[in-house]
Amino acid sequence: MKFPEQVRRLAAVTAVVLAAVLVVRFVVIPASYFSTKLHRANAVKREVARPVSFAGVLACRECHEEQFDAKSHGYHKNVACETCHGPSAKHADDPMTVKPYAPRDRKFCPVCHAYDAARPTGFPQINPTAHNPLKPCITCHNPHDPVPPEVPHECSACHAQIARTKALSSHALLECTTCHTASEQHKVAPRSALPTKPQTREFCGQCHASGAANPDAPKVDLAAHGGAYLCWQCHYPHQPEGME
Ligand code: HEC
Ligand code: HEC
Ligand code: HEC
Ligand code: HEC
Ligand code: HEC
Ligand code: HEC
Ligand code: HEC
Ligand code: HEC
Repeated sequence: MKFPEQVRRLAAVTAVVLAAVLVVRFVVIPASYFSTKLHRANAVKREVARPVSFAGVLACRECHEEQFDAKSHGYHKNVACETCHGPSAKHADDPMTVKPYAPRDRKFCPVCHAYDAARPTGFPQINPTAHNPLKPCITCHNPHDPVPPEVPHECSACHAQIARTKALSSHALLECTTCHTASEQHKVAPRSALPTKPQTREFCGQCHASGAANPDAPKVDLAAHGGAYLCWQCHYPHQPEGME
């Protein structure tokens, strides 16, 4: 008997699809895939066969007791050795031929410490451009026990931008303390003891009022100049301009 043309075509297409399904089922997918056990036994074998790349801190400790001890008490106690040094299993097996990476470059530490608003409040963050530029971080911080070094006592250590601005201005020769009285406490816990700031026009008048003793300071008529406004409403005190 003879089937109509469209039935034969349909049969051909069905046969091709069926063949494809069978090939995938029996040839492409490995038999182990149809195991009914919870884990495919071959997946475990596959993972175990991968090369080990991390040795773990206990291995490092055997040979580097000193770094281990330093780190275990310090701020970095929860940062693993291999987070910074990279996977080091090969080094632990054969320390003389394989050297691990040591991140001495200044670019490395800001991966965690660069200011980022998304980081938790209180996490120690710095601005890598402004925080002691050019020197590697490890010149001042021990990576295994990063106690911040003693706080420097120059105003410019913390107010670098104001200090740089003033250094190029006509007030370059005036000390910060000519206009601000700052206690030692301010340099240790800045917000708990804020320095004084000038309060009156007369303060600037000490040098700038006509008749004031300072010979280098240009003079203005204190009673009339600038009306009743405070001088720093028009002149930035750290970079005053004559505005000629
Ligand atoms: C079997 C002992 C041993 C183990 C385990 C070991 N190291 Fe070392 N490591 C050494 C020796 C020895 C050197 C010095 C090699 C040299 O000076 O050529 C060294 C050097 C280093 C250095 C210095 C690299 C440099 O550039 O100065 C680092 C970093 C280091 N190891 C990290 C690790 C870490 C991280 C681990 C754990 C994953 C580890 N080591 C495990 C023996 C070991
Ligand atoms: C925060 C990143 C960081 C962590 C965590 C860290 N290291 Fe280091 N490590 C460094 C840097 C940076 C240097 C290079 C120091 C230098 O050259 O002064 C270094 C240097 C070393 C050296 C070379 C000798 C020395 O002290 O300069 C060894 C050995 C070492 N580390 C082992 C370890 C071991 C072991 C651990 C875990 C217990 C560890 N490090 C954890 C960053 C780290
Ligand atoms: C993987 C992330 C990570 C890396 C990389 C890292 N740190 Fe840290 N750092 C931390 C953590 C976490 C703390 C502890 C924060 C805390 O105690 O709240 C810390 C604390 C510090 C502190 C103490 C700040 C304070 O509270 O007074 C300093 C300084 C510091 N790190 C410097 C460095 C330097 C230098 C490097 C590079 C060698 C470095 N860190 C690399 C995570 C990191
Ligand atoms: C010239 C020395 C010097 C260098 C270089 C330096 N620091 Fe510091 N760092 C300090 C001093 C001093 C302090 C404590 C006073 C302060 O907060 O400025 C400090 C404080 C910190 C703190 C704690 C800030 C906080 O809010 O508690 C972190 C984090 C830090 N540094 C990370 C770094 C990183 C990362 C680098 C490299 C990109 C670096 N430092 C380079 C001297 C240095
Ligand atoms: C350890 C870092 C540090 C040092 C050193 C430091 N300051 Fe400050 N200073 C701060 C911080 C932080 C603030 C508060 C800024 C804020 O609240 O916005 C501040 C605020 C000030 C203010 C503003 C007070 C106000 O009421 O707004 C003045 C003025 C000032 N400092 C002057 C000085 C002078 C002068 C010196 C040197 C004798 C000095 N500071 C040294 C960190 C420091
Ligand atoms: C000629 C006097 C004078 C000198 C010198 C001076 N300041 Fe000021 N400073 C002022 C006055 C005035 C204000 C108050 C501005 C205001 O209230 O708007 C001020 C404000 C500040 C503030 C508060 C924040 C701001 O920018 O308004 C800080 C911080 C500060 N000064 C730090 C310093 C430091 C650090 C130095 C030295 C590098 C310094 N000042 C030198 C007069 C001076
Ligand atoms: C309302 C804004 C304003 C106020 C407030 C103000 N000034 Fe001025 N000041 C100016 C302008 C504008 C100039 C430049 C034009 C001129 O010389 O009158 C100037 C110029 C100066 C000069 C330069 C004079 C010269 O010969 O080069 C000094 C010094 C000066 N002011 C100091 C002060 C002092 C001190 C105070 C507070 C007692 C003060 N100014 C308040 C606007 C002000
Ligand atoms: C201890 C003295 C002294 C005090 C206090 C002082 N100045 Fe001056 N100021 C000077 C001297 C000196 C110069 C000129 C330096 C030079 O250019 O030779 C000057 C220059 C200026 C100029 C002119 C800049 C120019 O380029 O023409 C202005 C404006 C000025 N000061 C504003 C102030 C203001 C505002 C205050 C108060 C916050 C103040 N000064 C406090 C000594 C002082």
